[in-house]
Amino acid sequence: MTTTPQTGPERTPRPGQTGDDPSARALSASARDHLWMHFTRMSAYQQNDVPVIVRGEGPYIWDAAGKRYLDGLSGLFTVQVGHGRQELAEAAYKQASELAYFPVWSYAHPQAIHLAERLADLAPGDLNRVFFTTGGGEAVESALKLARQYFKAVGQPGRHKVISRNIAYHGTTMGALSITGVPALRRDLEPLVPGAHKVPNTNFYRAPEHGDDYEAFGRWAADSIAATIEMEGPETVAAVFLEPLQNSGGSIPPPPGYFARVREICDRYGVLLVSDEVICAFGRLGHTFGCQRYGYLPDMITCAKGMTSGYSPLGALIATDRLMEPFLSGKASFSTGFTFAGHPVSTAVAMANLDIFDRENLLQHVRSNEGALRATMERLLDLPIVGDVRGDGYFFAVELVKDKATRETLGAEERERLVRGFLPRALFDAGLYCRPDDRGDPVVQVAPPLICGPEHFNEMEAVLRSVLTEAWSRI
Ligand SMILES: Cc1ncc(COP(=O)(O)O)c(C=O)c1O
Repeated sequence: MTTTPQTGPERTPRPGQTGDDPSARALSASARDHLWMHFTRMSAYQQNDVPVIVRGEGPYIWDAAGKRYLDGLSGLFTVQVGHGRQELAEAAYKQASELAYFPVWSYAHPQAIHLAERLADLAPGDLNRVFFTTGGGEAVESALKLARQYFKAVGQPGRHKVISRNIAYHGTTMGALSITGVPALRRDLEPLVPGAHKVPNTNFYRAPEHGDDYEAFGRWAADSIAATIEMEGPETVAAVFLEPLQNSGGSIPPPPGYFARVREICDRYGVLLVSDEVICAFGRLGHTFGCQRYGYLPDMITCAKGMTSGYSPLGALIATDRLMEPFLSGKASFSTGFTFAGHPVSTAVAMANLDIFDRENLLQHVRSNEGALRATMERLLDLPIVGDVRGDGYFFAVELVKDKATRETLGAEERERLVRGFLPRALFDAGLYCRPDDRGDPVVQVAPPLICGPEHFNEMEAVLRSVLTEAWSRI
């Protein structure tokens, strides 16, 4: 078995543990020979087994050798309702039997219609227009295209630039990658789409200004967006892309007042606000949409992952009525599409998934239990290696430091050895699948399925405590 997957370049797997199980060894060998794993240092699998996950039930997963792990990352921030839900499998089966495929290109099918209406009902304000994709990156890419095409259609063709935060991850298609602020992901793929500008992220623990005043820090961070718009020329800026709670860099919540000020800035300059909720929607923060958690109204929402709890791929761009207006008359049409977008099976699964949310009152469950998750994670603050614990909902990170008093971070060698080497291996060995990450400052993230409760939080904390204690002894 090897490492937990992490969205970041060149992850190092750990030595294998498929033991003597012949079918587990065969799967691992075949994966090594043929399966090109994403964001993975394939070279490391020359000597090591590939971790092969074969089954899931509730918040647990099992590997090919039969070992059980707590899925502390919901797969990849995706499996909201937990693994092994027969009714989602049955929804897929029923839809595939009835109508397995038809595109949403000039034609419609009932599940796409029902889901679009349901999302429009759930979304705040007049976010009523749903453009399906197959995943999150395509939703972000489509939002970028819609921003550009909308402004051309309304006589402001100069507006093509976009603004996003340093370290934020928004996907891998060329437009979404250009919006992404992770240098290591961009470097080898340049040149990217021009006109994508970056502003500071909102990690208060690392605040370069106003480190003693959270609200002032938030004003400063929001004002950096205004300054960038002024610098670039407001007539050239189309949109600002922000996650409600920023994933990359370690579950970074918005400072108080940040989004209200960003909304005001966007309105002042006529710039669109895109809420990239590929992770934060569908209960991750205790609300259907992350913007509802923090009380702001974007012009577009991009979402994916939890919409189907990962039982089938699906993403969506949800836009306001105003943004669709230019496309409702004459010969106009939005110039993009994807064969599998709004797939009948995926939209049927999404409907059944949202039924589970309603029946099991999952949003309320997250809101009722997030305090317990926070308190459990904060217990780790007594460890010398844990500098900060942050997050909201079911989405937390611990930031790792070398020196708590000075907040000195781990050096390059320690990151390589500990964050990419030791931690993923040791956590997984100890039965917890979660995410050590160093795209920004080094962190370990947890985002368990929304069905989890205090017993699972305690299980996560126990593993994190022992493995982080061991990591400290290796610094
Ligand atoms: C905020 C955000 N946007 C976009 C994406 C890209 O989504 P996908 O991997 O489905 O293309 C991700 C993926 O994690 C994400 O976290």
